[in-house]
Amino acid sequence: MITEFAPAKVNLSLRVGALGEDGYHPVDSIVVFADWGDALTVTPSDALSLEVSGPMSQAIPGGEDNLVLRAVRLLAQASGQDAKGNISLVKEIPAGAGLGGGSADAAAALRAFNRLWELDWPLDMLAGLGSQIGSDIAACVWSQPLRMTGRGERIRLIDDWPDFPALLVNPGVSVATGPVFAKFDEAPQTGAAFRPQGDLIGALQVATNDLTAPACAIAPVIDDVLAALAATKDPQLVRMSGSGATCFAIYPDEAARDAAAGAIRQVQPGWHVFPIVFRGVSAITPT
Ligand code: C5P
Repeated sequence: MITEFAPAKVNLSLRVGALGEDGYHPVDSIVVFADWGDALTVTPSDALSLEVSGPMSQAIPGGEDNLVLRAVRLLAQASGQDAKGNISLVKEIPAGAGLGGGSADAAAALRAFNRLWELDWPLDMLAGLGSQIGSDIAACVWSQPLRMTGRGERIRLIDDWPDFPALLVNPGVSVATGPVFAKFDEAPQTGAAFRPQGDLIGALQVATNDLTAPACAIAPVIDDVLAALAATKDPQLVRMSGSGATCFAIYPDEAARDAAAGAIRQVQPGWHVFPIVFRGVSAITPT
């Protein structure tokens, strides 16, 4: 039995360029991973199966289209293995949330079957394969702080980052990525690029998420989430992740983060509030 952690992905910044001829947008994003996410377990079997449980299991598309099964079939094909194994997925990350849930699961499946079949593929090979079926999968294979460019397939790992205590807040609204990019195309506006400097938070404050305005046009509740996070005590950075609807704030310490979590839960009991830490190192290597 092999278990892989599938940490939630968060875009600390997301710069989007003009739509390319391939139907994708060039991006430039600083990506980090939480100490919280889904868990995927694989056991040997005569067939390929996927069983989903956990608090967010309802919203997962099952069947052949599921990204986890597509990833396993792709790896089987590329490595000459039979696509067989029982997969059990415990789903904590909401779907359509800007947290890369499906991509994290597909990436965890690639790492798990890499171990089950004793392929010994390095992570950059798994990432290259995964990027064929989803723009965020390469980043999720690595699951450590990184800068992502191209349409998501070009990865530069970032070393020596701190842990950031943070709060993720999702209003319970699912937002599909494609329509947000389409909305962006109606009025494309590209913000400043992230430029590394001594004051990391200061550098992140300059670099925004270019999908915020289009996502808010589709799901106006995102504005309320951003306002609620901004109204907490001591947020150092408030942003939307990916194409929404999840937003986050970074706090100076875990006590400030937990106080903010309590304040938001009191005002918005229906929202999902996740107190987490953005890991400064790999989120998939046990601490
Ligand atoms: O790659 P993925 O399936 O996650 O992307 C979902 C949709 O988001 C794509 O079909 C495309 O419309 C849009 N997208 C984009 N540019 C990117 C990534 C995604 O336009 N870099």
